[in-house]
Amino acid sequence: MSDQNRKPAVLEVKDLRVYYETPAGDVLAVNGIDFQLYQGETLGLVGESGCGKSTAAMGILQLVVPPGRIVSGQVLLEGQNLLDLTESELRKLRWAKLSLIPQGAMNSLNPTMKVNRQIQDVIDAHRRGTSKQETQDRILQLLQMVGLPERVYHMYPHQLSGGMKQRVCIAMAIALSPQVIIADESTSALDVVVQRVVAQTMLRVKESLGVSMIMIGHDMGLMAQMVDRIAVMYAGKIVEIAFVKEIFDHPAHPYSQLLIESVPSLKEHKPLKVTEGITHDPRHPPPGCIFQLRCPLVMDQCRQQEPVAQEIRPGQWVACHAYQASEAK
Ligand SMILES: Nc1ncnc2c1ncn2[C@@H]1O[C@H](COP(=O)(O)OP(=O)(O)O)[C@@H](O)[C@H]1O
Ligand SMILES: [Mg+2]
Repeated sequence: MSDQNRKPAVLEVKDLRVYYETPAGDVLAVNGIDFQLYQGETLGLVGESGCGKSTAAMGILQLVVPPGRIVSGQVLLEGQNLLDLTESELRKLRWAKLSLIPQGAMNSLNPTMKVNRQIQDVIDAHRRGTSKQETQDRILQLLQMVGLPERVYHMYPHQLSGGMKQRVCIAMAIALSPQVIIADESTSALDVVVQRVVAQTMLRVKESLGVSMIMIGHDMGLMAQMVDRIAVMYAGKIVEIAFVKEIFDHPAHPYSQLLIESVPSLKEHKPLKVTEGITHDPRHPPPGCIFQLRCPLVMDQCRQQEPVAQEIRPGQWVACHAYQASEAK
């Protein structure tokens, strides 16, 4: 799924597949995803729990551990395929060029270490020779950038609220000014008000640094307010990618339609659509379209042939047989 007339892609993911080995067969967690992340943009990766978002993030960073494995694909960062790099080359690149705020990051801060030490570790691992004073100044600057008061420097994680811990994780992610940040459900564990504030901080920081960002989440409504484009994921596949306005005005894939109908609307007081969750066994996806078992528009073709993503409007890509022959209405 590529767009012409766009800024250059900083990150390009091609046919990435990540499977988990289980006694009953491989779980096809990420089963051939393609997308590009453009310079300076925020791309939302949205889909319900278990659809493979976190696995995709780990696959991009080459952090997949057994029983998981990368089966195939390319992850091109500024044209360089990360799958070709050695572990030591990858270590240099993580945090410095490509950083991940993993799901649940704020709960995995080291409880025995003060905030300044945790940030310092990230800086030290990559920038040997930085003076103590420079490092301290940099940490204070980072705290300020993410909206934390100076006193947090000397505090332990347990002395901080959830929102503050999440800000520390953001500070660590930007400490080495990476080109790309992947934030996995970074606001999901926070309450609604804090969620918004932290998300805004993330975007402000992103703007001021000019980094490109992938925001992973399951809340389509929240995502719509944060990102430039949305990639909708279902059972290991990206079924649609489009600009936020396009996808909200005319979602093309039946699953995107379902997700958007389930966003609560204050104006309309519509009853919420109940989403069922992925219905097939992830070890044995049905042949043909991945969404066929839940799709209200399912046709014979969908049970036999996998739909290929195609651009139905500028920048709007959808993998659905309903669009294969006909033009978008
Ligand atoms: N260690 C594992 N072993 C087996 N299956 C796993 C493992 N980790 C994740 N999975 C499976 O991979 C799929 C994708 O999981 P995940 O990437 O965590 O989804 P998401 O982040 O979208 O909730 C799910 O079906 C999940 O059960
Ligand atoms: Mg996840």
